This record gives sequence, structure tokens and C-alpha cells, in this order.
Amino acid sequence: MTATTRDTATDHPVTGNPPPSGLPRLLPAGSRPMDLAAHLRVHGKTPYRGGPRMLIHTIESAGLTGRGGAAFPTHRKLTAVADQKGTPVVVGNGAEGEPASDKDKTLLWSSPNLVLDGLQLAAEAVGARKVHLYVHREPRLLQHLESVLAQRAGSGLDRLRISLVSAPPRFLAGEESALANRVEGGAALPRFTPPRIFERGVNGAPTLVQNVETLAQLALISRYGPAWFRTLGTEAEPGSMLTTVRQADGGGGVAEASIGTPIAELLRLREHPAQAVLVGGYHGAWLSAEQAGRLTLSNADLRPLGAAVGAGILAALPADRCGVVESARVVRYLALESAGQCGPCLNGLPLIADTLAKLANHRSAPSARGDLARWSRLVERRGACHHPDGTVRFLRSALTVFAEEVRLHEAGGCSAISYEPFLPIPATSPDHKDDWS
Ligand SMILES: Cc1cc2nc3c(=O)[nH]c(=O)nc-3n(C[C@H](O)[C@H](O)[C@H](O)COP(=O)(O)O)c2cc1C
Ligand code: SF4
Repeated sequence: MTATTRDTATDHPVTGNPPPSGLPRLLPAGSRPMDLAAHLRVHGKTPYRGGPRMLIHTIESAGLTGRGGAAFPTHRKLTAVADQKGTPVVVGNGAEGEPASDKDKTLLWSSPNLVLDGLQLAAEAVGARKVHLYVHREPRLLQHLESVLAQRAGSGLDRLRISLVSAPPRFLAGEESALANRVEGGAALPRFTPPRIFERGVNGAPTLVQNVETLAQLALISRYGPAWFRTLGTEAEPGSMLTTVRQADGGGGVAEASIGTPIAELLRLREHPAQAVLVGGYHGAWLSAEQAGRLTLSNADLRPLGAAVGAGILAALPADRCGVVESARVVRYLALESAGQCGPCLNGLPLIADTLAKLANHRSAPSARGDLARWSRLVERRGACHHPDGTVRFLRSALTVFAEEVRLHEAGGCSAISYEPFLPIPATSPDHKDDWS
């Protein structure tokens, strides 16, 4: 392995290893997880810069945005945290509470060293001394990560000790203020903000929270530079992203795609036609198959329709299912996942879930559609976190895209041939209601 040098043209250190060409970048080419020896062979050592802030300009030039859902520019968050008084804390967010997403677990399983490099580099960039990795509570995955961390401890790669924190299997567990509570040792319940987490997060310290994929992308950009990063994606949304794909025939999995790839290609809509496509998960939006078929995986295409790439979830609803029934299952799940800490979740979401369930089961009052619209307006932007807003976005898109099916249900009918659930809803244990840690 060659020693690290500095590329003056792009101001990034080069390990001497050739950058990955094409895809995948983040995931190993084969099915085997990339262990530390393979990681060092392919990517070389962690390319530390030598001091705080030195990486931030490179990340800005690359145009990296967060892969945890909101696509917020990563360099702006790094700068905001580095600018705070006090020593920051960095947390890698691998909670992945969204049932329709598998990409973070897949990444942590297959390429953990890229995520851990990213954590160390982000910590250096903001001047942090404490680093945590917050991971979906899955015993095999946690064990795997413990052994990866032990291997790295022997290699001298890590400048800061990384502590593993388990995230309860709840939709809200990855929301950044819930994460801060859990990392402090408490329950993964959202906080009432302000202050925002970047100002006062874990134990009152300024806290940088980045999705684990964002950190892995940051680790690659640090090595191979912004120009390389921009060879995939679009000018406005550069790079690749991990997507969890559910095709209408039940196939799919986690794929790494260039941003701007046609959705029809990712879901193989020509071979496996669908009636509608859910984009961005359970806080995302339904699109008709016709709409989805002419759009790409990019916020530039999706936002004008009220959708977003989010954490990269695409699910194609087969023609034989009922969109109203599927949506009612998801809204019920979302209502039950709230912590019930504020009014919209305590009163509004259960009412909305019950009304949609009655519509799905042909027991709705004539006022159901109007009621859903009114209650949606009442809960929107009234919660301490975005849970009610995301739930309402999903609901509204369902009522629009499945408008014909809604009318059929109001008249006592349903076009489904199969009622086998399509979208995943996790099975819960009897103590789930109180399981927040
Ligand atoms: C209800 C809710 C759940 C969330 N769950 C996750 C999650 O599981 N993983 C994640 O990375 N971000 C999640 N987020 C977003 C985080 O709050 C935070 O914005 C993100 O981790 C920042 O990382 P990024 O900028 O790298 O995307 C969630 C947000 C909300 C409102
Ligand atoms: S809006 Fe809902 S989910 Fe968010 S903190 Fe309040 S009760 Fe909890």
C-alpha cells in the first residue's frame, strides 16, 4: 500500500489506491462483507486531514447531502457544529426504524469500515472527542460491529474510541432528538426543540448526527475527492445512493444507484407492472405507476409532486392489491408508533387511523374523506417532531393516488384480488408499547 500524499488540484489526500469505477461504490462487489484486510487493500488507511474543519471544503465541493431522509447539505451541518462553543459529540445514525428500509443494516453489515472511517473523519472535522454509533437493535449486527471495532482497535486506525448504542426497533428511534436521549442512556423519545441537537444534543454538547450512509460517502470523498464523487448523479444531486427496492413481483433488495436513475429501471416496471409506487417510505408519498414511470430517483423530479427520495425507499404495489387497505395498515402502524407526547399524536393520529381503517373495511361514515382532510390540517406542524407531518403526507398521497379505489370502498366495493400484505409492518412483542430503549 502506498503512503498518503496530497492532491493539490482537489485538496484531498490520496491513498494511492485507485478509486472505485462505476457501481457499487459503498457495497462490496461480491456478497461477502468487506473485512478490515479487504477494506485496507481496496481503500487504504483512514485519510485524516490533521485538524478540524480541513475536510469541510472538500465535502462542500462534492455536494454531499444527507442520506438519512432530508437531503440536507452535509458541509453546512459540519460547519454549524464546528462553530458551536463547547466540544462536540458525533453520532452515526444507523437506527433505521423505517420498516421498508434495509439499506443501513446492509451497509453496516457489508462495509462497516467505511462507516467507521467516516465517523472518525467527521469527528476530526468538527473537533469532537466523543463518538457513538447508534445501531438498530439486532443482536447479530451488534455482535458483528463489536468484532469489527475490536479488530480496528488492534490496527491503530481509530483516533477516538467509538461506543456502540442500540436503537429500539421503533419508527421514531432514529429521529435525532430521540437518538440524543437514547445515547445519553434514556428512552428514544423525541425532545421538544429548540435547542436543536447541533446546538445542544448529547449531554448538552453540540452534536453532529449523520446517517451511516452519509458517513460512508464522506469517507469515500475524503479519499477520492469531489470530482470523482460527481462522476455519478446529477449536477444538483451528485453521487450514488443506496436504495431499498421492492418490486411488484416480490423481488428486490438493496441496490446502489446513481442519483437520477429512472425509477422504472430500478423497479423493473416494464417486466413487473405495478398500480402505484411508494417513494421515500412511510413518511413518503404514493405516486401513480404512470407518474413514477417517467421520473428519476432525484428530488428535482420528485419534489414538484410532493414526494422525495428520502432514505431511498421504492416499493411498487402489485396490481392485485388494494391501495386503501395497504395505506390503512401503514397509517395504523404509524399512529401506534407515536410516543403520544403531544396532542396531534395523542388525539389526531388514532382518529385518522381509525377512519381510514373503517374506509378500508367499508364501515366509514359519509363524511370520512372530509374528516380525514380536516384532521390532517389540524395535526400538521403541531407536533414536537415531524411524525404527524410525515404521516399526513403519506395519507394525502394515498387519498389522491387511490381516489378511485376510495370511491369504490365508499360504495361497498374493493378491486383487490389478494389481501396478502405487501408493505412490511414489523411484528411486535406484547411489551412493544413501552419498549423505547
Ligand atoms: C420520525 C423520524 C425518524 C427518523 N429516523 C431516522 C433513521 O432511522 N436514520 C437516520 O439516519 N435518520 C433518521 N431521521 C432523520 C434524523 O433526524 C437526522 O436528520 C439524520 O440522521 C441526519 O443525518 P443525515 O443528514 O446524514 O441524513 C428520522 C427523522 C424523523 C423525523
Ligand atoms: S409529534 Fe408525536 S411522535 Fe413527535 S414528539 Fe410529539 S407525540 Fe412524539
